[in-house]
Amino acid sequence: MGRLSSKNCLVTGAARGIGLAIGKALMREGANVAFVDVDAGVKGIVAGVAKEVAGAGIGRAIGVQADVTSRADIRRAIAETVSAFGSLDVMFNNAGINKPLNFMDVTEENWDQVVRVNALSVLLGCQEAARQMIAQGRGGKIVNTASVASRQGYPNMAPYSASKAAVISLTQAAARALAKQQITVNAFAPAVVLTPLWEQLDKDLVAIGTSKQPGEAIDMFSSTILVGRAARPEDITGTTTFLASADSDYITGQTIMVDGGKFLV
Ligand SMILES: NC(=O)c1ccc[n+]([C@@H]2O[C@H](COP(=O)([O-])OP(=O)(O)OC[C@H]3O[C@@H](n4cnc5c(N)ncnc54)[C@H](O)[C@@H]3O)[C@@H](O)[C@H]2O)c1
Repeated sequence: MGRLSSKNCLVTGAARGIGLAIGKALMREGANVAFVDVDAGVKGIVAGVAKEVAGAGIGRAIGVQADVTSRADIRRAIAETVSAFGSLDVMFNNAGINKPLNFMDVTEENWDQVVRVNALSVLLGCQEAARQMIAQGRGGKIVNTASVASRQGYPNMAPYSASKAAVISLTQAAARALAKQQITVNAFAPAVVLTPLWEQLDKDLVAIGTSKQPGEAIDMFSSTILVGRAARPEDITGTTTFLASADSDYITGQTIMVDGGKFLV
């Protein structure tokens, strides 16, 4: 019996990177997982995931294409999860993007794009997951992906920093709003995780003149991590599985730093 056997989970931004690792780790603990992503390729990854984590007691997986900035898409993803597995017990609002620009170059378009994907999606995801959990009548768990940029405003990522600060506020607001329905809402905040997001960010930071060559920005951001290296997605999943499990039942409204000690707050 895994820590999450018979739990039904939905993870957004799950076609790759941190979301994919979160989903696989949940399955290894027996959960059924809906991998949700705007990338249509998410449907294709599910067979591979099931094979990769194959073993006694692992859960089932489905792939759903959905855009987290659309309430209708989130509702459909939740409906497909419930139809496949019977309920929604844990919701991960993880999808996110970064489009760095130097502070004075930030446009309304850049702001709208980043804040819609990173912050509006968390509001919508919390609301729609909670609607389903309240209808089921036995509580649930919501876990949001914040960032070290939630607590630090970076001059070349102002909308990203603002959107991730909003993830902390939304986590606290939702925790207070949903406590009576036995729904806990928490967030986790990574620093540098080696995923396609960082590969692209590294290139974009060269393009806007923050760094001179590929790899320099990753090295610079990672140099103050106390454990001495950037994270792999698998370094994050001990915490995400904990936040999805009953072991975290007495924690709500919190943002847990999973940053190797980059910031001590
Ligand atoms: N990689 C890091 O260093 C790092 C650090 C702190 C926080 N984070 C956060 O972790 C989360 C995951 O990041 P990652 O590094 O795995 O990124 P990633 O780019 O590797 O994966 C993100 C996934 O989200 C999906 N996505 C993007 N927009 C979407 C939308 N509108 N609807 C549905 N899916 C969408 C993408 O298709 C992609 O599969 C993000 O919220 C990111 O801000 C990442």
